[in-house]
Amino acid sequence: MDLKISIIETASVALGQLHEIMRGARSEIERMIAARTQGYDTPYASINLPADAAMQDTIKKVIASHQQRNPAALVVIGIGGSCLGAMAVHEILYGRRYNEQHDVMRVYYVDTIDADMLHETLAAVEALLKAGRQVVINAISKSGTTTETVVNFELFYDLIKRYCPTDYQKSIVITTDKGSKLWEFAQEEGIAAFAVPQLVGGRYSVFSAVGLFPLGLIGVDIDALCAGAQEAVERNTSLDFERNYAIQRAAVLYAQYNVGKHIHDSFMFTVDGASLGAWYRQLMGESIGKEHDRNGKQVRIGITPTVSVGSVDLHSVGQLYLGGPRDKVTTFVAVAHDNHTITVPQYAAFEKLVAKIQKKSVSSIFMAILQGVQAAYTNEGLPFMTITLPKKEARYVGQLMQMQMLEIMYVGYMFNIDPFDQPQVELYKKETRKILAHE
Ligand code: PA5
Repeated sequence: MDLKISIIETASVALGQLHEIMRGARSEIERMIAARTQGYDTPYASINLPADAAMQDTIKKVIASHQQRNPAALVVIGIGGSCLGAMAVHEILYGRRYNEQHDVMRVYYVDTIDADMLHETLAAVEALLKAGRQVVINAISKSGTTTETVVNFELFYDLIKRYCPTDYQKSIVITTDKGSKLWEFAQEEGIAAFAVPQLVGGRYSVFSAVGLFPLGLIGVDIDALCAGAQEAVERNTSLDFERNYAIQRAAVLYAQYNVGKHIHDSFMFTVDGASLGAWYRQLMGESIGKEHDRNGKQVRIGITPTVSVGSVDLHSVGQLYLGGPRDKVTTFVAVAHDNHTITVPQYAAFEKLVAKIQKKSVSSIFMAILQGVQAAYTNEGLPFMTITLPKKEARYVGQLMQMQMLEIMYVGYMFNIDPFDQPQVELYKKETRKILAHE
């Protein structure tokens, strides 16, 4: 079984136009096919991560050595592309309530410098250390110089050093670019470090050690995740447009942008998909939102990515989407089979409140709501696409994320912008450093 993707019937773009756009991107697909033989020496480097068995073996060995220490907590320190991928996979596979349900290994994502959040997390980790438990601190920063990540790392480094003064190094894993200042720090301190391939950008790095180390440590089947991603690379670099969902989706987004649909909403029909939506939001936002095109011409291109969660957000933004401006394309992301079956009981009094829900499974009612929303979108002429995961399993999540990364690369090509840089993010980072230097 694979992801089920439906695009053409509901996207409101004429088939002829879609084919014309896809044919226009043929040379880009050919470049990607060539890139698949070029390892990490290509701007498309990230598409070669899922097939890198040597890298995955190294990561698995480090995971095994940490698992032997039976850690009580994993602290993932990173921001943006250095954190969102792992969070997304974790949440869709294990659920939002993971820390409440699993005493085995708590997971803390420390992705910003909010003093109150930090106070709580530092206290929780300190309590474990006081009780003599082991923890793993994974500091992730491609550049090695992101303010938030360095502040957070320094705080947890200090904590670990206080409780394990002679062997604190054993509790820390650094993931960064080879040669970055953070890399040098790891070498000087004798801390284990994973290198992020130079041309793999943060938001494309989930299948490198950035995502695979924390995910493997908490028990995600990273072989299945990468196998799914590799299947998506094969399918979505195909010149057969029928097979290549990523090029189809990119063509829809491009065509709809050109008729004023500048917003792409990821409507996640599973609460555990919120972080996956947030990961895609960053991927699309940073990759496609650009001031200049590849020729240096000012274009100020961008599709604004939004995330909605079904069915809750129908009761907050459903009115806006159905009645408001016609400026959006929607991707519904659904799961065909939930992990659990819950059936509604059969009290006569409840039957009077909402008919025909008694004795039905909650999942089937949820699906009926999704189908109802899609019927309303169709009736209103609102364009949408649907991605259905057969189940919340690592392989399908790998397929989905890799397909979406390829889709974004194709959209970048169609807009003639570089989907791999983020010059304006760098501007704010530089300004922050200047302000801090003068305080
Ligand atoms: O995707 C990106 O490139 C960014 O979101 C980065 O991941 C983010 O800014 C964090 O940067 P770094 O990994 O260098 O700390």
